[in-house]
Amino acid sequence: MSQRRILVTSALPYANGHIHIGHLVEYIQTDIWVRFQRLRGHRCVYICADDTHGTAIMIRARQEGRSEEQVIADMHAAHVRDFAGFHIEFDNYGSTHSEENRQLCAEIWQALCRAGLVVQREVSQLYDPVAGTFLADRFVRGTCPRCGAADQFGDSCDRCGSTYSPSELVGARSTLSGATPEVRAAPHFFIQTEQLHDFLAEWTQSAGHLHEDVAHWVAAAFLSQPLRDWDVSRPAPYFGFEIPDAPGHYWYVWFDAPIGYIASTLQWCRRSGEPFDLWWRHPETEIHHFIGKDITYFHTLFWPVMLKVAGFNLPRQVHIHGFLTVGGEKMSKSKGTFVLASTYLKHLDPAWLRYYYASKLTPKLDDLDLNLEEFVAKVNGDLVGKVVNLASRTARFVQGGTLSAAYPEDGGLFSQAAAEGDAIADAYEACDYNRAMRLIMALADRANRYVESREPWTLARDPSRAGELQDVCTVALNLFRQIALYLAPVLPTLQKQTAELLAAPLQRWEEAQRPLLGTAVAPFKHMLGRADIKHVLAMIEESREQPAAASPLAQGYGSTRQAGSVASSADSFAPRDDSSAGLAESAAPHVDRAAPLAAEPLEAEISFEDFSRIDLRVARVIAAEDVPDSKKLLRLSLSLGGDVHRTVFAGIKGVYEPASLVGRLVIYAANLAPRQMRFGTSQGMVLAAGPGGKDIYLLSPDPGAQPGQRVH
Ligand code: 2FM
Ligand code: ZN
Repeated sequence: MSQRRILVTSALPYANGHIHIGHLVEYIQTDIWVRFQRLRGHRCVYICADDTHGTAIMIRARQEGRSEEQVIADMHAAHVRDFAGFHIEFDNYGSTHSEENRQLCAEIWQALCRAGLVVQREVSQLYDPVAGTFLADRFVRGTCPRCGAADQFGDSCDRCGSTYSPSELVGARSTLSGATPEVRAAPHFFIQTEQLHDFLAEWTQSAGHLHEDVAHWVAAAFLSQPLRDWDVSRPAPYFGFEIPDAPGHYWYVWFDAPIGYIASTLQWCRRSGEPFDLWWRHPETEIHHFIGKDITYFHTLFWPVMLKVAGFNLPRQVHIHGFLTVGGEKMSKSKGTFVLASTYLKHLDPAWLRYYYASKLTPKLDDLDLNLEEFVAKVNGDLVGKVVNLASRTARFVQGGTLSAAYPEDGGLFSQAAAEGDAIADAYEACDYNRAMRLIMALADRANRYVESREPWTLARDPSRAGELQDVCTVALNLFRQIALYLAPVLPTLQKQTAELLAAPLQRWEEAQRPLLGTAVAPFKHMLGRADIKHVLAMIEESREQPAAASPLAQGYGSTRQAGSVASSADSFAPRDDSSAGLAESAAPHVDRAAPLAAEPLEAEISFEDFSRIDLRVARVIAAEDVPDSKKLLRLSLSLGGDVHRTVFAGIKGVYEPASLVGRLVIYAANLAPRQMRFGTSQGMVLAAGPGGKDIYLLSPDPGAQPGQRVH
């Protein structure tokens, strides 16, 4: 296989917040891919940087009485430390606030201007006359114009979920100063991306650049209509780069952030003497971006336009992952599931999270759930129980000695595991780490069965069987070495420990093809500890924050975007009414699969009268309890308002904790004939989606609905 030249990036984290376990999904995913490419013998460079510009940093610096440069320098050091703690190793970790970036922004800007893509237009936006700055939606609060809920953000209501423009808020005020915002107009620069519509249609739909689900989403959501112009400037005051020849105008943070990928590469080239053009202007160099799904459109629409117009390499592939949930829910500060990287490292081993995420990651955009019990079980069951145990149970019988000189008969185990190398490599290459981990654990299962059947601990008691013991340990340690090599992209520490134990390097994928023979075995040293739920819970406890009193200043910053969780975070999202790209900038691809409908095709038409005969009502769960004799059922007591109560049995045991249901609203089919069951009578049923088993989802009305209301 010829050597590939690959440049890999992860999204640049904002300098206004610390790294947390949501971010780590992406950086661990990327680091694994980079390590895998290097093991395969390819030239692979991993580039990242802090994303430093925008209003949030400016406001934070003001509040802290420091310069923006001081704020971003501190955060840079913290980010570098946190990433290193998780064994995420960049070739260069730069900053978008660098001279390299300023120069590259100017170069790309000139190219866009020369191509006739830049125009200027007036934009009206809310302005804080006391703080002297324009306000992104995030910095405006007031009463929801739809439902009257107080203290809502400028773009959407937490209570009723409606979205609106900040100027519609009733009694709007700036969270920076408390002042009433004014509407002010200012000129902005726009890029007319529509002029490259054909290019984008071609690039996004060509095989390999995007996952097919993403390609479909981009085509349907954006390319099926003319692309709106993209607003790429902000008037002063703004922390960023002033646009040459346009005093008082700054490039919007999302213009200079991706250029930071190139600028950070340029820094690396200057430091290491690499020719820059080889990495960003050479047709054979592969650029791979890893990002969260919420920033898909920046990387699949605007960024390719900028690269194309300025003559840089286009990405070979944009790898997009879903969001992190913890226990099935969004990370939450009050529940303690918004865990900072530094807090995790105080309590737990980084290798555990690397493995757990790897075991969950696929090339799809599905969200990834961190289930804390499963986390402990996987670490202990797989890593300790299956992998490390293989070495710890055998190495001690040969330590200080050597492996056998000839490879013993092992029933084909070594050669089977060697043959699996290609399938495992294909899975890593495709970012299907879940599959790679399953294949590797299947090898570990087979190896453990071998050790159990040969009982080296029994052989060790009989000196006349020393040769046999050496052979068994030779097989087990060679199988262990193959597994440690296949896991090396995920577990670099285990890779080093294994190389030391067996006094042989572990740096090339092909090393799984030939057994080690006759070589020394060092004394076995502890490799990886067991996870204990007590420590996990201590981490959660330390991460738990009391809900903050609604202090206006507390609202302004602190990125809650987590591997893309929500776009409620950064100022860096353009205001919705700025006629920028015309996109809800929090848009993330929703990829709806065909399988559910195919499994249960639509029913024959019925009349409205038929439908009306089903009396659907809103109901509140007022008690929920387990039915001990049933595998599937929970008993629910429902309130329909007043003193009207009903009892139903629902097949949701094991999916919902009874206690978590109490208080929630459900949809109830009220006029179904009662059904006599072994455990009592079910008076109607609650509605749920999904085929059943664990794949079942209760329906709820939006907040505000009242028990007893009819569902029409
Ligand atoms: O969404 C974010 O966290 C951004 N800071 C990502 C920037 S990625 C790139 F384009 F620079
Ligand atoms: Zn509302």
